Amino acid sequence: MRHFISANQLTVKEIMRLFETADWYRYTGLELKQQLFAANLFFEPSTRTKSSFIIAQRKLGMEVLDFHSTTSSTQKGETLYDTVKTFEALGADLVTIRHCSDTWFEQVRDHISIPIINAGAGKAEHPTQCLLDMLTIYQEFRSFKGLKVVIAGDIKHSRVAQSNAHALKALGASVFLSAAPGFEDYSLDFPYISMDEAVNCCDALMLLRIQHERHEESSTTDSSYLENYGLTKKREKQMKKHAIILHPAPINRGVEIDSDLVECERSRIFKQMENGVYIRMAIITNTLQEWGIMNENTIEKCKAAISS
Ligand code: NCD
Repeated sequence: MRHFISANQLTVKEIMRLFETADWYRYTGLELKQQLFAANLFFEPSTRTKSSFIIAQRKLGMEVLDFHSTTSSTQKGETLYDTVKTFEALGADLVTIRHCSDTWFEQVRDHISIPIINAGAGKAEHPTQCLLDMLTIYQEFRSFKGLKVVIAGDIKHSRVAQSNAHALKALGASVFLSAAPGFEDYSLDFPYISMDEAVNCCDALMLLRIQHERHEESSTTDSSYLENYGLTKKREKQMKKHAIILHPAPINRGVEIDSDLVECERSRIFKQMENGVYIRMAIITNTLQEWGIMNENTIEKCKAAISS
């Protein structure tokens, strides 16, 4: 049985099926009849990811267990492994985990017999964000083939850049990176281009926040960052007519993007958040089905019943 750890573990066909299920959830509810408990173990700050997991779980009729790392036994020295093991013993049916370690799942994946969904691993992986980003692009263009997608910002410290660059390539898009000096990650084998080149050529521009919390030395940014490496109003005007802007958020307005562009016509930033709920519903039910916790074919049966 698979924990949901990386977008790389999915085939293109599986990704497309998740998109289909997510789209289905947008218009149709599925309330699971059995009592199922979900625990969201977030050891790093989160607004969107944690809340959208909670909304996704509640929409599915799951009971959401309360956990806050700052008031949990983590403060008494309990390890991640013992925290997850505890929720398993208490009867949780599913856990989501966000942790600052790039490889936290190595501590837990072979010893936990309930499904784990990766809600963010250090600067290494963010598969559910990746899928909601892919869904947002797919809704726009209905195919990844021939699309030019630029990921721009603090590539070196971003788990979103890591997950998205690989997934985009697997789906058939051409991936380019754009970063200020020092923010490049040459372990990612994609060409670097300037922001001026990026806005001229891209179909989708994925902006990233500067991940100050992951910098080895404390860092600040002055207004020249936006001018040199960010999306200014002048650069936005250079974008192709159909090109879209994405950002996983949180946004630092006036740093990686001019504040006025956050809600501009080509921005899909709030659409991404909305998609986050539906793709997480799809990931949760798919995982529960794979683990036999939810009956296999429940979703298919519901789809068939509704369309007949
Ligand atoms: C991202 C994250 O946590 O990696 N945010 C998110 O999950 N929506 C990006 C970020 O923090 O900049």
